[in-house]
Amino acid sequence: MAVTLNQVAPWGRTLDEYRHLFDLTADDLEKRIVGVADGPASFNAEMHALGRRVISVDPLYAFTAEQIAERVHDTWRNMVDQLWNDLDDYVWTRFATPNQLGQHRLHAMQTFGADLPLGLAQGRYVVGELPRLDFGDDLFDIALCSHFLFLYSAQLSGDFHVAALLEMARMAAEVRVFPLLDLNCQPSVHIAPVSAALQAAGLTVEIQPVPYEFQRGGNQMMRISRT
Ligand SMILES: C[S@@+](CC[C@H](N)C(=O)[O-])C[C@H]1O[C@@H](n2cnc3c(N)ncnc32)[C@H](O)[C@@H]1O
Repeated sequence: MAVTLNQVAPWGRTLDEYRHLFDLTADDLEKRIVGVADGPASFNAEMHALGRRVISVDPLYAFTAEQIAERVHDTWRNMVDQLWNDLDDYVWTRFATPNQLGQHRLHAMQTFGADLPLGLAQGRYVVGELPRLDFGDDLFDIALCSHFLFLYSAQLSGDFHVAALLEMARMAAEVRVFPLLDLNCQPSVHIAPVSAALQAAGLTVEIQPVPYEFQRGGNQMMRISRT
């Protein structure tokens, strides 16, 4: 099912946020990384500026930087207003206010937009959609998925989660997913059944604390590995 632009409210995170929400070490950042559902995050652009290569996969990359910027312009204010309405659901330490967070996201999305044309030409941004991705087995050391799986638990079924995570585990020795809360800041209903299905498929599933909390209580990632 192709994503249409008006289904997406672009909201992109930075390398610093990715480092914390996935608890990525300096060694991890040297590894072969694929970011699935990276959307308009500046993670790839910032890693590229540091001389490191990350591949980001998202259906959003079928659109031009101009089309995505237009969508950001149309939706950004509403996203910030929503945060003002739900202030108590979030922890305001990394960001003092929704406006400050909004500016931070806008900057990340502008960094992404400026990098998109070159990144597409270099194969760093790839159009693709879970649960099936067009990469060979074991091409990566780490597959990351930020703010897609488990977050959209009401929209995406348990079967979708299992198929998507098996696909990511096929491509990478290790998979990390954050957050484990849904859009209502509640623990995802899929965590237990999806963990059981992945373990039945022979994978190791760990829930680990991470040094990042923005959704209140959302300071854990799922780590899936083959050992
Ligand atoms: C909330 S954004 C998260 C962006 C980024 N990972 C971050 O944390 O800043 C969710 C992303 O999931 C992408 N997406 C939607 N359906 C997808 C699918 N089936 N497979 C992969 N990505 C998908 C959207 O295009 C969007 O960019």
